[in-house]
Amino acid sequence: MTSTVKASEDGATASPGAAAALEIADLHYTYQDGTEALTGLDLRIEPGEKVALLGPNGAGKSTLMMSLLGIFRAEGSVRVLGEELNDDTRKSVRAKIGLLFSNPDDQLFSPTVLDDVAYGPLYMGLPADEVMRRSREALAAVGMEEFEARAPHHLSLGQKKRIAIATVLSMGSPILALDEPSASLAPAARRELIELLDELPQTMLISTHDLSLVRDLLPRTVVLDGGRVVADGPSEELLVDGDLLSAHGLEPLSDHVHPATGTTRHPGGSAPDPN
Ligand SMILES: Nc1ncnc2c1ncn2[C@@H]1O[C@H](COP(=O)(O)OP(=O)(O)OP(=O)(O)O)[C@@H](O)[C@H]1O
Ligand SMILES: [Mg+2]
Repeated sequence: MTSTVKASEDGATASPGAAAALEIADLHYTYQDGTEALTGLDLRIEPGEKVALLGPNGAGKSTLMMSLLGIFRAEGSVRVLGEELNDDTRKSVRAKIGLLFSNPDDQLFSPTVLDDVAYGPLYMGLPADEVMRRSREALAAVGMEEFEARAPHHLSLGQKKRIAIATVLSMGSPILALDEPSASLAPAARRELIELLDELPQTMLISTHDLSLVRDLLPRTVVLDGGRVVADGPSEELLVDGDLLSAHGLEPLSDHVHPATGTTRHPGGSAPDPN
């Protein structure tokens, strides 16, 4: 991977006594209509960890992502690389976390793709030549360098997703919080994304329904349900725990991927959803 997206030193390596990358304690968030989306969520992630965030629809995964940056003002405590999130620190906390929204239409708002990808590094106050270098490298990393002059709102969903990922990579944040990064990607683009993320040193929290992405990329899995953590452990153990997964709206990988051939079987005979 290019230097564009390398994490800063403090975010990439754990050392004894170092601050956690993310330390979340007793987090609660209730939407205006009274829906309790986070109900006392505790989670600690060390620098350099790559963690899957799984759970059924409505578990609170996206709400948690939004709360990490203070976009939603949740009750409880969020510490990012040792810094407590509050009204005074919101801007510096946001510079430490690159957030990919689940819907790329929420991420892209500029007249051209290049403007969108340059927005983050510009906002960080980097010099113009560095902004351009990072932006072009991030576009190349997602294979979209030919699209820099295009209008983001005229692209296909998968193309938008790749541009949205580039807008996060161009910031070079030490922590990546990615909400469904592989959704809408065609298989080749999905495979390239996994290889790209695998090479990056950043701490990652990735919300996904793509369990093979978890198996291939993320050693630790956290399962949310009802707005709190219901399981947390090595992915290789959780992904084959049929009872746990089915209790939380998920299906073990081993149930539908033949271990010897890799052939995908599906009870109904129809094509499986790649996500
Ligand atoms: N704007 C909103 N107003 C009211 N309730 C909301 C709003 N957005 C989400 N919710 C509710 O909050 C809960 C958590 O939703 P959230 O989007 O965080 O789930 P999720 O785990 O990301 O689900 P998915 O896998 O479908 O993306 C759900 O009950 C949902 O219906
Ligand atoms: Mg979601």
